[in-house]
Amino acid sequence: MGRLPFVFGMLFLFYLVVSVSGIGANWGTQATHHLPPETVVRMLKDNGFQKVKLFDADSGTLNALGKSGIEVMVGIPNDMLATLASSTKAAEKWVEKNISTHVTGNTVNIRYVAVGNEPFLQTYNGTYLTTTFPAVQNIQFALIKAGLAKQVKVTIPLNADVYQSSTGLPSGGDFRSDIRDLMVSIVKFFNDYGGSFTVNIYPFISLYDNPNFPVEYAFFDSTSAFLTDNGNSYYNMFDANLDTLVWALQKSGYGNLPIIVGEIGWPTDGDNNANLQYAQRFNQGFMNHILTGNGSPMRSGPVDAYLFSLIDEDDKSITPGNFERHWGIFYFEGWPKYQLNLGTVNSSNLVPAKNVQYLEKKWCVMSPSASIDDPQVGPSVSYACGRSDCTSLGYGTSCGDLDARGNISYAFNSYYQRFNQLDTACKFPNLSIITKNNPTTGNCRFEIMIQPISANGEQRLVSLQMRVNLMAFVFLTFLTFL
Ligand SMILES: *[C@@H]1O[C@H](CO)[C@@H](O)[C@H](O)[C@H]1NC(C)=O
Ligand SMILES: *[C@@H]1O[C@H](CO)[C@@H](O)[C@H](O)[C@H]1NC(C)=O
Ligand SMILES: *[C@@H]1O[C@H](CO)[C@@H](O)[C@H](O)[C@H]1NC(C)=O
Ligand SMILES: *[C@@H]1O[C@H](CO)[C@@H](O)[C@H](O)[C@H]1NC(C)=O
Ligand SMILES: *[C@@H]1O[C@H](CO)[C@@H](O)[C@H](O)[C@H]1NC(C)=O
Repeated sequence: MGRLPFVFGMLFLFYLVVSVSGIGANWGTQATHHLPPETVVRMLKDNGFQKVKLFDADSGTLNALGKSGIEVMVGIPNDMLATLASSTKAAEKWVEKNISTHVTGNTVNIRYVAVGNEPFLQTYNGTYLTTTFPAVQNIQFALIKAGLAKQVKVTIPLNADVYQSSTGLPSGGDFRSDIRDLMVSIVKFFNDYGGSFTVNIYPFISLYDNPNFPVEYAFFDSTSAFLTDNGNSYYNMFDANLDTLVWALQKSGYGNLPIIVGEIGWPTDGDNNANLQYAQRFNQGFMNHILTGNGSPMRSGPVDAYLFSLIDEDDKSITPGNFERHWGIFYFEGWPKYQLNLGTVNSSNLVPAKNVQYLEKKWCVMSPSASIDDPQVGPSVSYACGRSDCTSLGYGTSCGDLDARGNISYAFNSYYQRFNQLDTACKFPNLSIITKNNPTTGNCRFEIMIQPISANGEQRLVSLQMRVNLMAFVFLTFLTFL
């Protein structure tokens, strides 16, 4: 009898650990400059992330994750789906090279293969509609053949646009009519083989797309319900969206299929609603929400989720919007953007990346003697921004308050840092100078780039600079001989 409270205590403790175990992070690599993968892995561990989601199977990244214990979701890019769908051999090769070697050779804790990335997105016009499911099947069978199917499960990260609600309420949820049969087949397959449904949920995009979207509904701190449905009250869009999926799964006959939230987050720049305050409010609200372990009205229990994203990526396409390059909870160099308590470590602050190698503390700015009326200004700024990242300029952004000269300096510096502070990258005709005075003001960061690394992790700055110098030398020699 005396042991009962103890057992209950242990169970409670176990429950707590289970319910808080497992916040994950998306680790994207569409950046001009990467932190060494070992640095990122250290950062994941220091911040208590137990899981990471990748968008490909880069061997440098996977090697760094070896022996870390971190659970890994490896990705297959959409452009590989056709090959993997049409050839079981290709799928077996992929599994052998990108899963087996890392699981057995490097002891990487791979748990999922993410086949494609939002392949049924409506803007893809059906490009991956016929190849995704066969690719999933081939990968699943290849995993079975390799003896890895117990440890490694298959999923497809899908955008929440694969389901919708005819009534505007979660209970009206069902899969999009044009892909409903396909979705039901996929869901059945996942159910048969122990796979999970992965969905990316973005209240920010709802707000971005619809100026009439009630802002408070995007966050997690409202005390009044926005919807009631079947006796359930909804205080935030996340729960309503997730439950729309639960209803869609129920209508397909697989209401208990595990759900993974593959991406969730809020950007900090590039749009009026993308700022540090909103991002912190959203991400902290989300963390507090899932740390309760209660789940949503239709799906109780812990939420399995991966924050989007770990670090900013300055080379992402900005077709969806300028905010695309600013999803990180850390800046590109691993510096925390705001205070965020993940509930994983004994700290309410994010832990920055360690031993980051920066370039020199110098910036390229507009020369004080240059005039903003100089006809070269326009073309120079366009040139610089076209080849670097100016998404922090413009209305409602972190550098939106700069004056005209500040704008021009920002563009020049962005280009100069992008090209590793080469002298030749600060040669806008009579317009630019290099300075050691930090032009950063307020939230507007005039960045210093980090040292570039090559694929095998070695710094290649020196060789790059030598090559440029060599070219200049060859060119000058050539001129002399003319
Ligand atoms: C393994 O993954 C990488 C990165 O995604 C890819 O480039 C490569 O083609 C894959 N290997 C095989 C054998 O499919
Ligand atoms: C999809 O179709 C639209 C309209 O026909 C077109 O503008 C767009 O470029 C297409 N997108 C892709 C990814 O094919
Ligand atoms: C956690 O942090 C608090 C406050 O900084 C400190 O007093 C405490 O000793 C820490 N606990 C552990 C287990 O590190
Ligand atoms: C600075 O640049 C942004 C983006 O190009 C522009 O919207 C803004 O009007 C500029 N500000 C000034 C003062 O020139
Ligand atoms: C730069 O300024 C100098 C002196 O003011 C002038 O001679 C030269 O033509 C200018 N160069 C360019 C590229 O505008």
